[in-house]
Amino acid sequence: MPYKILDKKELAMNEVMYKIHAPHVAKKVQPGQFVIVRAFPNGERIPLTPVTWDREEGWITLITFVRGKTTMRMANELKPGDEILNVAGPLGNPAPMEKFGRVLAIGLITGIVEVFPIARAWQEIGNDVTTLHVTPNPMIILKEDFENAVSRHIVEGFDLQPGWGMNEIAQELVKRATAKVRELLENEHFDMVLTVGPAGAQKAIFNVVKEFGIPMHADLHPIMVDATGMCGACRVTVGGEVKFACIDGPGFDAYKVDWDELIHRTGFYAPLERLALEHYLKQLQAQGGEQ
Ligand SMILES: Cc1cc2nc3c(=O)[nH]c(=O)nc-3n(C[C@H](O)[C@H](O)[C@H](O)COP(=O)(O)OP(=O)(O)OC[C@H]3O[C@@H](n4cnc5c(N)ncnc54)[C@H](O)[C@@H]3O)c2cc1C
Ligand code: FES
Repeated sequence: MPYKILDKKELAMNEVMYKIHAPHVAKKVQPGQFVIVRAFPNGERIPLTPVTWDREEGWITLITFVRGKTTMRMANELKPGDEILNVAGPLGNPAPMEKFGRVLAIGLITGIVEVFPIARAWQEIGNDVTTLHVTPNPMIILKEDFENAVSRHIVEGFDLQPGWGMNEIAQELVKRATAKVRELLENEHFDMVLTVGPAGAQKAIFNVVKEFGIPMHADLHPIMVDATGMCGACRVTVGGEVKFACIDGPGFDAYKVDWDELIHRTGFYAPLERLALEHYLKQLQAQGGEQ
């Protein structure tokens, strides 16, 4: 069954939103779950997260970080009216829906899109949710949506400096995120923390949260292939046991995750490589140079 693209928008630098007709997903999806998309006949399957949906009208929205071949092909070649080959889902476990109290929900760069449905639902069931988006300034998205959905939305943006490569961007992300989280936890009481983003930055945030002894839920992004529990590409060690993130996750208790193994398996800097490259290409363009 083909899935029609009803709308497509570039929300910010390297971040594209697709509104897709997928009634079977829209009908059942819960916050914390994801879909697997295959957009082209010879294309790979990639996991993406429904950000918003309408159960009656039968659509979902996805937001992609244009970081590698598949997401770039989607950005360049797909347009409203086109059809996507497969949208399989909903997959994975829903996020826990509990009254925690005061929640700090942190999204790192495009990780913020996965925070949105969970944070909104947590607020709706009676939690007092503060969301924090740590990101390069050209990649700020969903600001108004968050402001309308949760108690308070904080954007910790930073400028990309000329000459910065992936290491500098990753270091700045970690520096900004850990400093802001420490400031918030020192000055206010929180009962639960949520993070979504690159594993290295999530681990750095976890090390701060641990000092305060606050429970933390982390959505993990290991490589996925089938996402139905058949291959183990997405395996992570949680509480000393091997778990498959596509079946048992993607959300886990951050205190039980083997962070070093996850970082080793996914590569800390990979999500930032594309950002660094795009930044460099933009600089070249601005200077009128050859690409
Ligand atoms: C549960 C889950 C939900 C996700 N939701 C979103 C989302 O809503 N928006 C978004 O922009 N990204 C999301 N991602 C990440 C997304 O799947 C990758 O950005 C995408 O696969 C990159 O494909 P590419 O060909 O463009 O880049 P590539 O050059 O192939 O890869 C670039 C980076 O993406 C990672 N990656 C590549 N293939 C996969 C794969 N099959 N599974 C997981 N990671 C992969 C690599 O580790 C690398 O760091 C999610 C990942 C998971 C596991
Ligand atoms: S992606 Fe194959 S088991 Fe999870």
